[in-house]
Amino acid sequence: MCGIVGYVGPQPALEVVVNGLARLEYRGYDSAGVAVLGRGALHTDKRAGKLANLRRALEERPISGDGAGIGHTRWATHGAPNDVNAHPHVDNDNRVAIVHNGIIENFAALRLELEEQGCKFLSETDTEVASHLLSTTLASRGDGDLAGAMRDVCKRLEGAFTLVAVSTDDPDLVVAARRNSPLVVGRGEGENFLASDVAAFIAHTREAVELGQDQVVELRADSVVVTDYDGDPVEVNEYHVDWDASAAEKDGYDYFMLKEIVEQPRAVADTLLGRVTVDGQLTLDEMRLSPAELRGVEKIVIIACGTSYHAGLIAKYAVEHWCRIPCEVEVASEFRYRDPILDQQTLVIAISQSGESMDTLMAVRYAREQRAKVLAICNVNGSTIPRESDGVLYTHAGPEVGVAATKTFLTQLAACYLIGLYLAQVRGMKFGDEINAVIAQLATMPEQIEKVLDTVQPVRELAHSLADADTVLFLGRHVGYPVAMEGALKLKELAYMHAEAFAAGELKHGPIALIEEGLPVVVVVPSPKGRSVLHDKIVSNIQEVRARGARTIVIAEEGDESVRPYSDVLIEIPAVPTLLQPIVSTIPMQVFACELALAKGNDVDQPRNLAKSVTVE
Ligand code: AGP
Repeated sequence: MCGIVGYVGPQPALEVVVNGLARLEYRGYDSAGVAVLGRGALHTDKRAGKLANLRRALEERPISGDGAGIGHTRWATHGAPNDVNAHPHVDNDNRVAIVHNGIIENFAALRLELEEQGCKFLSETDTEVASHLLSTTLASRGDGDLAGAMRDVCKRLEGAFTLVAVSTDDPDLVVAARRNSPLVVGRGEGENFLASDVAAFIAHTREAVELGQDQVVELRADSVVVTDYDGDPVEVNEYHVDWDASAAEKDGYDYFMLKEIVEQPRAVADTLLGRVTVDGQLTLDEMRLSPAELRGVEKIVIIACGTSYHAGLIAKYAVEHWCRIPCEVEVASEFRYRDPILDQQTLVIAISQSGESMDTLMAVRYAREQRAKVLAICNVNGSTIPRESDGVLYTHAGPEVGVAATKTFLTQLAACYLIGLYLAQVRGMKFGDEINAVIAQLATMPEQIEKVLDTVQPVRELAHSLADADTVLFLGRHVGYPVAMEGALKLKELAYMHAEAFAAGELKHGPIALIEEGLPVVVVVPSPKGRSVLHDKIVSNIQEVRARGARTIVIAEEGDESVRPYSDVLIEIPAVPTLLQPIVSTIPMQVFACELALAKGNDVDQPRNLAKSVTVE
């Protein structure tokens, strides 16, 4: 949720930290703050609003330091997004500063205890207890050991947290702790970095160190020491980040989202790359689940949130059709509260682009407790969900900075198709040549996405003409239904409009009462190939809403003339197999929502109230 940066080394810490925060602003942008150490003193500044406000304040009233620095961009949980509640939080002696991502669940009891000891609280945040607790613990230990004090503090905290702290006692040291929230170390030459995401330090180093659950790291310019909460050294996983700083730049686009939509052909191609052997067999070794384990699967349960949930809904159609295994799909936040039936023969597929969504992570943990096997589909190497799963299939979309998921969604679909086909292969549900035929069709998807991107200009114009609409409805059937849901979600989160999706067959059971003169209704039409019954039924649905005054915006296969008479606007997409159609039919929805939001003057990279990864439940 929040973004965290720490730096220690010869460069001016303030500059490194603020530039790192700029790359993490997508994680939260209610407020931002920094703390740097210099000449035995702690210098902080923090401002409500976007990072630009903090930058402006720092220009007007510069602070400087020659020691370590930390910074934070906030997504408010406890306390309004104002200057006082912004991080860092300092103790009453201005000796210790701390930034935090997560929620300290027992903060109220700790606050009472600290107030009784004389600590004066300035903010309404849960985080401030950590700064006072760290300070009092450091004082009572009397040994000046900030890492030791941090370990003691962590043992008293409940909830999810990444904490990063500096102290005037040791100005060339940054100490951080991690439980349930992300934190990664960047190893440089004579300098080291800490951040919620590698994007913050990728301009300086691509050598990263993964921090595990309940670990504390002491960062100095020339050393990185990681221990558990008892102070015992732990083995760490080091890795090389295979994308560079330019991948996290806007590349001339006004918004990351615009760039990320255009990157979709490459993202899907990279996700499919290297997953088929010369003899046409799928190889998904990184899944770490043996063919024997996959043959034993009796039920699949897909868990995810938001856009990733929509990918799961589409996957269900493919998996059940190709593998004949029952497949349930559920929003992760509901999953563990309904006592789901899981056992060793259940394969749980957790879809999360960030690998950090707390709802999904908690569902994964629950599933593993029930002895189900968990396979993650994830875009962020080394993130928590794949680390805690039995296996993983990484998507290769590259960094997605825009808060609205676009390219990661298409790559999640590609990954789901690969898993479905692989399961069909190992379980002998399909002959090699059948699998090869679908793989060959999948391989053409990047080209088909290019075609859609080349022809979406009318969608942009349409979006601008609808900027004053109050409501847009979306209809779909079969795999087109989750696509309609994704279209509605994009419009809500970017354009702040009422948007709702229905399975078109449900229309007559109630929602048709919503139709009135001029109401825009977007309809995703299945392929007409083979005189598909579904196709004909949805054409009837289009006629039903049009007869009641709706303005119909129809997304249909090129050459499907049957829909033209009933379409106020017809958006043509390339003809592809039905199950794969979401890969192309989603793109006009993304462009529509993005352009409509831009027409309303909204910031599509940082929509109000949202954050890229939701690391609180
Ligand atoms: C998508 O546009 C949203 N920003 C959001 O719904 C997102 O898909 C959801 O929070 C899940 O995130 P994850 O894939 O990182 O777990």
